[in-house]
Amino acid sequence: MPPADNLMDKLVSLAKRRGFVFQSSEIYGGLGSVWDYGPLGVELKKNIKERWWRSMVHEREDIEGLDAAILMHPKVWEASGHVAGFTDPLVDCKHCKNRFRADDPRIKGTPGQPDAQCPVCGSRGTLTAPRMFNLMFKTFMGPLEEAAAVVYLRPETAQGIYVNYLNVLQSSRQKIPFGIAQIGKAFRNEITPGNFTFRTREFEQMEMQFFVKPGTDGEWFDFWRHERMKWLVGNLGIRAEKVRFHQHTKLELAHYAKDAYDIEYEFPFGWNEFEGIHNRTDFDLARHQEYSGKKLDYLDPATNERFVPYVVETSAGADRTTLVVLCDAYHEEDVAGEKRVVLRFRPTIAPLKAAVFPLVNKDGMPELARRIYDDVRNHCNAFYDDGGSIGRRYRRQDEAGTPFGITIDGQSTQDGTVTVRDRDTLAQVRVASDRLVQFLGDRLRG
Ligand code: GAP
Repeated sequence: MPPADNLMDKLVSLAKRRGFVFQSSEIYGGLGSVWDYGPLGVELKKNIKERWWRSMVHEREDIEGLDAAILMHPKVWEASGHVAGFTDPLVDCKHCKNRFRADDPRIKGTPGQPDAQCPVCGSRGTLTAPRMFNLMFKTFMGPLEEAAAVVYLRPETAQGIYVNYLNVLQSSRQKIPFGIAQIGKAFRNEITPGNFTFRTREFEQMEMQFFVKPGTDGEWFDFWRHERMKWLVGNLGIRAEKVRFHQHTKLELAHYAKDAYDIEYEFPFGWNEFEGIHNRTDFDLARHQEYSGKKLDYLDPATNERFVPYVVETSAGADRTTLVVLCDAYHEEDVAGEKRVVLRFRPTIAPLKAAVFPLVNKDGMPELARRIYDDVRNHCNAFYDDGGSIGRRYRRQDEAGTPFGITIDGQSTQDGTVTVRDRDTLAQVRVASDRLVQFLGDRLRG
């Protein structure tokens, strides 16, 4: 494998070349740290989100789905503590005008003091003392740009769940313990975005809030922590040795959390968080109860006890998880003296499941290949490629992470069999074309 820094460059370039991720507004010079998903990227991210949804909502009786709006009543963010506390300490260099988070490990010395050194231009004593900067994006509702019309783009999807907690509870007839899951966009005006899609200002979250009886929160917290790790390894196929837990220290805990674990991945740029499991206690519901004046407590039908539920949250970034999957899938290897770049996605999340190739564009092969392609794509996302040598076509699909390559050759027109090449083992087997859909289906389930 290439060195880590170089690996990230290679991944960014492959992502563009094969249509996974493009720089936003590229023809205008790009918009910093904003990315668009191309034809393969949108499929990959959608497959990850679908698997998350399936395991959270469809496979469990105790979790309901929700899709709340991005814009919410501004009081929500006062109650949640985001207006007062969702801030990062910001430092400016008066010399080169660059901005940093005050806790940027590259800064030497204490910002605001003469000993502090700018990590970009190297000047001493030019860094301002830290000032707090709120990360929420503000906009205005309606035609007037005045203070009374300020609304925020949500910085987390969780609050849409809390304000709908009663609606969901009453309409679904769930009983505590139960959860609400949501996938949606969130926005943060990050001071230092970067590392490709790792930290951006617009991103998607997959969040689940599990409402429990106070006192049982510790058990549920442990349950969800292990469940999420099991899912990432068992369901998305992320290598177990590349993920680990990091428990938050007192200083790291968010304003709402009593206990929290990050799930970290060893990215080419180091170990970093891509999912968090948080014990948010009754912080959010109690605050919404206080700010809205609405009762949000729960009457336990079994014991007649009233309590404000505690919340155990699992919060994953869809973009960061997609980046984890891309990094984890990337492999370079030597095959018969030639370098091969291959994305080893689990077939279940691969953007394309199969590619169909006529060996040559004559002798009835394209016609048969087209018929087989139509058949296959009725069942799964497939690609037809008749351009260039068969070796080059295989290599393109290896880079796209397509698990199966189906080649229609001279024998196919005689006996109706095709070869199926396995992306990972490179083994080729002959399969009768009328059994092909079944053959692929068996390998794509899970
Ligand atoms: N509701 C809790 C919450 O939002 P968080 O740790 O701030 O917790 C959860 O965010 C996840 O959202 C992170 O683990 C990460 O995957 C994703 N995320 C947060 N900020 C992000 C950013 N600027 N760019 C991309 N993903 C981000």
